Amino acid sequence: MAFDLVFFGGTGDLTWRKLMPALFQAWRHGTLPPDGRILAVARDDRDDKAYRSWLQHRLQEANTAKRPSDAEEFARFSQAIGYLRMDLSQPADYQRLQAWLNQRQADTVVMYLATSPHLFPVICEQLGAAGLNHERVRVVLEKPLGHDLASAQAINRVVSSVFTERQALRIDHYLGKPSVQNLMALRFGNVLFEPLWRRESIANIQITLAESLGVGTRGDFYDRTGALRDMVQNHALQLLTMMAMEPPSSADADAIRDEKLKVLRSLKPFDLASVARDVVRAQYRGGTLAGEVVKGYLDEDKVPADSRTETFVALKCEVQNWRWAGVPFYLRTGKRLAQRHSEIVVNFRPTPHPIFPGSGQPNKLVIKLQPDDGLQLHLMAARGSVNGVFHPSGQEVLAPVSLDLDFDKTFGTERVGGYERLLLDALAGRLNLFVRSDEQEQAWRWVEPVLDAWQRDHTTLRTYTAGTWGPPAASALVARDGFAWAEEA
Ligand code: BG6
Repeated sequence: MAFDLVFFGGTGDLTWRKLMPALFQAWRHGTLPPDGRILAVARDDRDDKAYRSWLQHRLQEANTAKRPSDAEEFARFSQAIGYLRMDLSQPADYQRLQAWLNQRQADTVVMYLATSPHLFPVICEQLGAAGLNHERVRVVLEKPLGHDLASAQAINRVVSSVFTERQALRIDHYLGKPSVQNLMALRFGNVLFEPLWRRESIANIQITLAESLGVGTRGDFYDRTGALRDMVQNHALQLLTMMAMEPPSSADADAIRDEKLKVLRSLKPFDLASVARDVVRAQYRGGTLAGEVVKGYLDEDKVPADSRTETFVALKCEVQNWRWAGVPFYLRTGKRLAQRHSEIVVNFRPTPHPIFPGSGQPNKLVIKLQPDDGLQLHLMAARGSVNGVFHPSGQEVLAPVSLDLDFDKTFGTERVGGYERLLLDALAGRLNLFVRSDEQEQAWRWVEPVLDAWQRDHTTLRTYTAGTWGPPAASALVARDGFAWAEEA
């Protein structure tokens, strides 16, 4: 399959930190279709050679490719990479892009918009005006798609006036992670859990996306965005939909996305009172992480000293349908937390009637997303005698044990990363792992009352020390219902 892949924002962080390393990995894995050309588009003047050498340095810096590359290997990979200077508002520059594309007829042309989202409308309009929206073209839109419902709808209106829904691929890189694929496999490739996957057996579900990094060099972007827009509206809600959705009728993209949309529509809407009660927002202060002193958010580069942007969110929500009524879903995410650690914990209900001495622990399924990718099932088992001594009652004493599955060990291969998978899917036109516009707008609709309440400063902005698990209010949110976050249980 001959493909042309155009990166708008060709010198931006995302391109050199994530997209190019992912393509390089795909090329090394031999999964990148062979007859491909890659074009980086940006404002400054340089030629192909200068761009390739700039990229080589950046890739070394990013060091995201798992194996170090040697110069000869990079040279072979980068032969397919070109550079085009473009002013994205100038129609004439799209004619030059068209001329580059017309050097041959590729089977697929993917336009990857890795720019700031305020440029999406103008790029799409110009692509349309230049006739670069024909059926062999697909456009990939990076998050954040807008900063609220109205801006997301405005972008979607322009995109849909130029491209069909099947041509517009909205990316959420979490959907490309192998661990997230495993979530679908766990639920819909096995019969074991489905009968238990409901309110009768499950006490609560906790989704944690914890990062130890701070905002780094992205202070200005982050300060306009905050954790709710950056992580909850997209990544955390996507995970929630996969946990809560009904089994789709097939693995077809729309069958899956229809079910995910139903979950988003079933989420109990927030009002001012529930935002104050069920949503915790906080910002990190300086602290110590892995033995190193790190600064607080307000001292980060490009962050205003009086910023009220949240770097941490914990919230409680409910999926209002027969399967989940009354089961709390707790989501939390934050920067500068104790560890990089993302997981979903399904806490089952206790046994209805105890017959063994001592207190048993309810079963728990831990779906580990990163850095480890695996499953842990916590059970109670009969411990038998201890050094030949039985319990005085003569009855079995139970002890907690766990069944552990480490997917990296099990599959024993270098696993394909999120962006690598999604780029290959975009080239092949596989849509399952991309977010549909109605899903994305519904997610904005749901978070919007929280954004509004915060903007009007109706709730407290709390603080937490870098290197901890967030403010005490996040623990209180769960403790109020008689539960605890996994690390506190
Ligand atoms: C991005 C956010 O979408 O996801 C970043 O903009 C965040 O702020 C990143 O750091 C986390 O992704 P991952 O794959 O490292 O968990």
